[in-house]
Amino acid sequence: MSKLCIQGGKRLSGDVVINGAKNAAVAILPATVLVDGISIIENLPDINDVGILKEAMTSLGAVTNFIDEHTLEIDASTVYQHVAKESCISKMRASYYLLGALLGRFGKAEVAMPGGCDFGGRPIDQHIKGFQALGAKIEVVDNVIRASADKLVGTRIYLDVVSVGATINIMLAAVLAEGTTVIENVAKEPHIVDVANFLNMMGANVKGAGTDVIRIKGVERLSGGRYSIVPDQIEAGTYMIAAAITGGDVNVRNIIPEHMESLSSKMREMGIQIIEGDDFIRVVAPEKLIATNVKTLPYPGFPTDLQPQMAILLTVAQGVSTLIEGVFENRFQYMEQLHQTGAKITVEGNKATIEGVEKLKAAHLTATDLRAGAAMVLVGLIAEGGETVVHNTRYIDRGYESIEDKLSALGADIYRKPAQ
Ligand code: EPZ
Repeated sequence: MSKLCIQGGKRLSGDVVINGAKNAAVAILPATVLVDGISIIENLPDINDVGILKEAMTSLGAVTNFIDEHTLEIDASTVYQHVAKESCISKMRASYYLLGALLGRFGKAEVAMPGGCDFGGRPIDQHIKGFQALGAKIEVVDNVIRASADKLVGTRIYLDVVSVGATINIMLAAVLAEGTTVIENVAKEPHIVDVANFLNMMGANVKGAGTDVIRIKGVERLSGGRYSIVPDQIEAGTYMIAAAITGGDVNVRNIIPEHMESLSSKMREMGIQIIEGDDFIRVVAPEKLIATNVKTLPYPGFPTDLQPQMAILLTVAQGVSTLIEGVFENRFQYMEQLHQTGAKITVEGNKATIEGVEKLKAAHLTATDLRAGAAMVLVGLIAEGGETVVHNTRYIDRGYESIEDKLSALGADIYRKPAQ
């Protein structure tokens, strides 16, 4: 397993270009199964999860071809089977989008239960509720979810929990169903809108994405086209925080500033200068960071996927901050290992109280999931007293393209030590 080795204390400055959104890409690639033709997906991030899904699509019979490292051509007209049980499938959470896509296209699907980062229970009851409402029969046998329907018929579905995955999965199952489907209490993240825009570009009729209610009129066929993935708000937020925590001055480019509003507002509360352009945000760090309080919520609330990164920023802010995880039942596991860095954090349930300290100490840290991994890199960027080593970089590589190259270009002293 490769490691990231970082000497802290370097002030980041310059420009960083953000890639396409991982959580849009890992939904849109499976969604191409619905297209009886060729989809050309541009601005894909060059990350492991994209590679895994490309292989999964190929195993279903699609013809896939990278036109360049960020553009993938997929001809799904040749998809001939509805079973996706390869071991790679259960490695990642987003593989469950193949359920909605295969069910939508063929009226049947068999997909291995999803894996993904462990934040306590991550049920898929709302996905199943939606598929059943559309007329599908669902059973789980030997950790494989089997879905089948003679016909999928549009209906009204209310989500008991605001769920990104369920919103997208039900959308995928409904676009070719008979009649109209109304999904209420849906998630509104930028990647939800991106999936809806992709489906409409291919010939679907999806309205209301980004609001609380999505209306889908079933169509006969999706015929293909070209689509460019939305910029990644979480990658962007991670680099905005990296700029702020190192006392830096960084332009975070190729983003949609309004997607960053909740983070930008919190950073301004901390005394950080946030200057917004059309497609970039300039982050200028203050001498001293001011403590603040954060609660993660579904979009447009503060993103849970920036919670670990924000926690690190708060560990060196002046004063006491509180950080409440409002989306997952247990997303503070990574905090345990921060004590060795000198961070002062106490956790009670879903609330962390963070007392700011002057500095953090270098340590050996382990990525326990994708975003916690990014947070450990942030520790390394400011830690003193030696080299910080971040282990388990495979998690980080799932969601961040060339993280060490981008940080080095901004002035960080970071390199990747290959696996022995
Ligand atoms: C997506 O996960 C993202 N993953 C996560 O990003 C992100 O943290 C999460 O949305 C919230 O924004 C992908 O898009 C691949 P949810 P997902 O369904 O869809 C509960 C990252 O780092 N729930 O919105 O699994 C669930 O337990 C990853 O990029 C049910 O109860 O999240 C959670 O408490 C980590 N029943 C809450 O809803 C269900 O059927 C939100 O989960 C589904 C979810």
